[in-house]
Amino acid sequence: MFSGIRGTLALNCFLTIGLAVGQSGSDVNDVITLLFTTQKYNKKVRPLKDQTMEMDIPVTFYLNSVIEFDEAKEALKTAGFLSLVWIDEYLQWNSSQFNGIDSIFLPQDDIWKPDISLKNSFASFTGLGSSYLNVYVRNTGEVFWYPYQVLESTCDVEIRYFPFDVQTCNLKFTAWSYTKTDVDINRGGENIILSDYMPNSMWDIQSTAAREVNTDESAVVFEIKLKRKPGFYIINVIVPVVLLSFLNTFSFVLPITSGERASYSVTLFLSLAVFLTIVASSLPKNSDSVSLLSIYLILMTVASTLIVVLCLVEARLAARSTTDHHIDKGFLFVHKLAKILRCKTCTRIQSVLPHDNTEENMNKVKDNAGAIVFEDVNWIDIVASMDVLLFIFFMTLTILGAFVIFAKAASH
Ligand SMILES: *[C@@H]1O[C@H](CO)[C@@H](O)[C@H](O)[C@H]1NC(C)=O
Repeated sequence: MFSGIRGTLALNCFLTIGLAVGQSGSDVNDVITLLFTTQKYNKKVRPLKDQTMEMDIPVTFYLNSVIEFDEAKEALKTAGFLSLVWIDEYLQWNSSQFNGIDSIFLPQDDIWKPDISLKNSFASFTGLGSSYLNVYVRNTGEVFWYPYQVLESTCDVEIRYFPFDVQTCNLKFTAWSYTKTDVDINRGGENIILSDYMPNSMWDIQSTAAREVNTDESAVVFEIKLKRKPGFYIINVIVPVVLLSFLNTFSFVLPITSGERASYSVTLFLSLAVFLTIVASSLPKNSDSVSLLSIYLILMTVASTLIVVLCLVEARLAARSTTDHHIDKGFLFVHKLAKILRCKTCTRIQSVLPHDNTEENMNKVKDNAGAIVFEDVNWIDIVASMDVLLFIFFMTLTILGAFVIFAKAASH
């Protein structure tokens, strides 16, 4: 679209300079003298002969690139330019009186222009364009202004579904001192134009929109919906965290007698805490909503804490001897339950274990209220049984947690 306009501009210049015989720099100078000296153009006057009328200025936004989206600072940096067209009734001349000169270029600061700027700017609040940019003026009074700008805007970040999130960012351009009855900034018919857009490696543009505001304010809002490409976070955060949380449950596979268990589970706790820090640092410090990934990490850190505590308790239990501490009913129940769970899944063990015998012994213990020392079961066996139950419990928790949280985030 814009290249079309530029093409026409270039062609116009070519025709003007190259083909029309006798057109010279002094003709252009004469036009400028007419407008600025003879007619005393004043850029402070809204360029309407009837000042009760409103200026109608359609605005189109050409997005060139999304430079950076800082989620932690909630700032979006984009590069692009606006296209603004209006009719300046004091910049009109009869081209046949000036050797057919029908257009000129003027520095943007020499003529009236709407004081339009980005309202939700993250950086300083400044006007658009700069003094070294020219505007293109036709003899009919049409003014074409294409201010290019690197725009830094604020953007509320919604982190709930991080890293499967979609962010909606608005760029609000407003003619600061005018109301709609003076200068009507309106959308130029299209949404954001992406013909010159260069893709970003982290964000895809899902959709764009342009709308006018309903209030008296002379403003137009361009909306960009950005969808994050989650690949980076899947590889660098989610996969390691899920693997770590599985490793965590395997604390109960390590034999209690090896003595490595406490340090193993503490190491895993610390690794999870490191990932929690990494995730937190790439998200805004925002307490309004919590990301599902953070919830998963917190859940796993809590599970990891429990595992450390349980490992220490188990180490303590394994150090007991049956002569000093009798195995009470609760522990025997755990032992029995673990054996049932084991034997359901593995018939080989069932045939080896003296199943009935143990049952009898248990009853015996129950009857004599711990008077008989249980020969078949010692504290190490009890701890091994607890390991089975705890392993199943934490494995279920990990699988369920991962499934629920990531299914919810990804399905969004
Ligand atoms: C422009 O100038 C020419 C030559 O002086 C004249 O014939 C013509 O009527 C003028 N046109 C307008 C619109 O004033």
